[in-house]
Parts: sequence; C-alpha cells; structure tokens
Amino acid sequence: MTERLQAPRGTFDVLGDEALARERLEQTARGILERAGYARVETPAFEATQLFARGVGESTDVVQKEMYTFEDPGGESLTLRPEGTAPVVRAYLQHGMHKLPQPVKLWYLSSFFRRERPQQGRFRQFWQIGVEAIGSDDPAVDAESILLLHELLEATGARGLRLRLSSLGTPATRAAYREELAAYLRTREDELSGEVRGRIALNPLRAFDADHPGTRRVMESAPLLLDRLAAEDREHLDQVRAMLDAAGVAHELDPTLVRGLDYYTRTVFEVTSDALGAQSGVGGGGRYDGLTEQIGGPPTPGMGWAAGVERMLLASPPLPVAPAPVDLYVAYAKPEHRLPAFRLAADARRAGHATRLELGGRSLKGQLKQADRTGARYVAILGDEGVALKDMETGEQKTVEPGTVMHHIRGVL
Ligand code: HAM
Repeated sequence: MTERLQAPRGTFDVLGDEALARERLEQTARGILERAGYARVETPAFEATQLFARGVGESTDVVQKEMYTFEDPGGESLTLRPEGTAPVVRAYLQHGMHKLPQPVKLWYLSSFFRRERPQQGRFRQFWQIGVEAIGSDDPAVDAESILLLHELLEATGARGLRLRLSSLGTPATRAAYREELAAYLRTREDELSGEVRGRIALNPLRAFDADHPGTRRVMESAPLLLDRLAAEDREHLDQVRAMLDAAGVAHELDPTLVRGLDYYTRTVFEVTSDALGAQSGVGGGGRYDGLTEQIGGPPTPGMGWAAGVERMLLASPPLPVAPAPVDLYVAYAKPEHRLPAFRLAADARRAGHATRLELGGRSLKGQLKQADRTGARYVAILGDEGVALKDMETGEQKTVEPGTVMHHIRGVL
C-alpha cells in the first residue's frame, strides 16, 4: 500500500471553527488598522534571496539556517519569505512610494516560512498580521504603532500580556557597543556556552538571549547598550515612552531585549503572553531606519511590528462560534425536479438569501433531515404539485407556484 500523504512537518490545515476564528481576527485587525490609516499590502510569497540576506542580516538565525531557499529553473536564487518587513520596504522603493505623503502606512496578513524545529506555537508556515510605517522618524510613529498592537491584542482577549521595550540606538552606537560587549565577553570566554562563544564576533548581542546558566551569570554584569545611547536616541526613546504612558499602554524598559532580525535601530519591543508555553512571543517589532539603504534605496526611516496569528489565537480564550444562519433549503422529490430546484437555489442566492441545495443524492426524507440539521428558516420542496414551502419557525406550510417562492419568503427574510 502506498503511504498516505500528510501535510509537511510544521504545517497545518485550517478547518471549521479555526477558519472562522481566523476570519474574525482578520476583521478585528482590519478595523483597528484601517481606522488608523493603514492600507492593506500584499507582496509575493517568494523574493530574491538577496533581499533577505541583505535586509534581515547574514548573521541572523533566520538567514543562516531557517530559510527555504531554492534555485529556480532559470538559475535565480529565490526564498520563501521568512518575514514581511524587507518585502514591504522593497515594494515601497520599487513603487516610488516616497512620492506619497509620508509616512506610508501599510498592513498585511500573510503567511511566512521558517525552517524551525516545530513545537507548540512554532510552525514552518505561519501567519502574521503586521504593519509598516515608512518615511518618518517621528517617535509618535513608534508609539502609535505599538498602541495599535496593544489594541489588537486587547480586542482578541489575549491573556497575560507583557510589553517590553528598549532602544538599540544608531548603527554607529550599536557598532561601538558591540565591540565593547565582544571585548567583555572575551574576558570571560570560558564561562560562556559553546554557541555564544562561537558567535562573539558575529553577534555578541544574542548572548543576552541565552538560557545557559554560565552565560546568564556573565551577562548580569555585561555593559548595557541603553547606557551608551547618544543623547538624541535617548530623547527618542523617552518620547516614545511618554506617549505610551499618555495612551495608558503599560510597558517595561528591558535593556537586554534582543530581536532575532538585524535591521533594527532605536526602538525595539516585544509582547509576550504567559498563556503561551516556551514560544511566548506574541508579537514584536521596532524601528529600522537603515533597512532601505541595506537593500539599495535612499535613506528612509521605518517602523513596524508583526504578531503571529496562531499565537494570538492560542493566547486568547476561544470565542463561541455561531453557525451561519441558512434562509432556505431547497429539496426535491424526484429527479425531474432537480433542474428547477437548481434554478430556485441560484435565484435565491442571487437575491441575497443563504441557500442550500440537496447535493448528496439523499431521499426526500434524508433531505428534510438535512434541512433540519442546517437550521434553515424555510424549506422549499419541489414536487409535481408545485412547491411546498414550509416555514420552519412557525411550522406553517403552503403550496405555492414555483415562480413565486422568492416573493413569499422575501417579506419575512
Ligand atoms: P518576528 O519577531 O520574527 O518579527 O516575528 C513576529 C511574530 O511572528 C512573533 O512574535 C511570533 O508571534 C510570530 N512567529 C515568528 N516565527 C514563528 C513561527 N515559526 N511560528 C509561529 N509564529 C511565529 C518579524 O517577523 C518582523 N518582520 C516584525 C517587524 C515588522 N519588525 C518591524 N516591522
């Protein structure tokens, strides 16, 4: 026997109530984001590999080991998008959106691909709702954007939320700090985990992320980037925080906050939920003022975030899902009534009524049982004597001319 095929590891099918829950999340997000002036954007599911190598950063886990990269038969290296910021910024540059009033505010709900080890809340194809505001370095952009994620998570009812915030300063400050941190780590190299030791030169900041007890001890006395910020970066951070306070968004300053992507400058933040297990990050983002230049554009500031759809749903209580109401169920007694039944169902739908037609070859008795199961308000039974129209709410039944069914139900529905 041939082996039954399954969805690839780390992927899933979306069925039934799950699909409804996602749809509702999308509607909630659309309402919140479009009221704030964000317009929907879609970019391709794959891009030139270079976009992510340069945009996300060669030293990140994402680029080093998690990308689905393939050579297209034409010889071009393509990658299934592991994240949305670099593609949206690429689209901004490609379509000359700098000519529009700035910042340009875009949002997306798309699927992304990372070859990570699958576990609860971590998939190889996952969905994100994200926003990008490109073209302004005003701290109000940062605060407004963070407030929107806060509102979205509140609206979904996500539990046990914690918002942590920090600043990475400018690339220059960060470069100097990286040197300082790397030098510090080298002085205590033998206490560090092998992984951290191997990446001192490449990405010393990731040491703050380590679980390894020795490394954690070393990091307790490590110099902090927040203490090295230039005055204008400090001021930017203070303004973002003041605006969040003014909007009533509780947050904590976390000087050890590290993000898995390289493009961040100044503001970085992350929201976690204690309703989730090890993969507690619900959403995160920050400012990326250097990203446009990394991918070959003119200097253009940007700010955004993304939140995992699966994690938002996992962190929220399941909402009751009501089955969609059915207005009319069209049944028929004999095969010769099939065609008029088909037409009646089509007409009813065109007139805006939720309509079901017998499609399973059931007997009339089976059809009526099925009609009952759908909770249809009306059942129309096509037979030799015309159409028997039954109001399922009142139990009232009458025989009507086939052409007048719509007329009879219109007044009620
Ligand atoms: P990220 O932190 O890599 O940021 O991902 C954002 C969110 O996507 C995470 O907090 C998590 O909820 C979800 N997520 C990430 N990986 C997985 C996975 N393997 N399975 C399930 N969910 C996952 C970004 O992607 C940035 N582009 C965010 C951003 C936008 N920064 C600026 N603008």
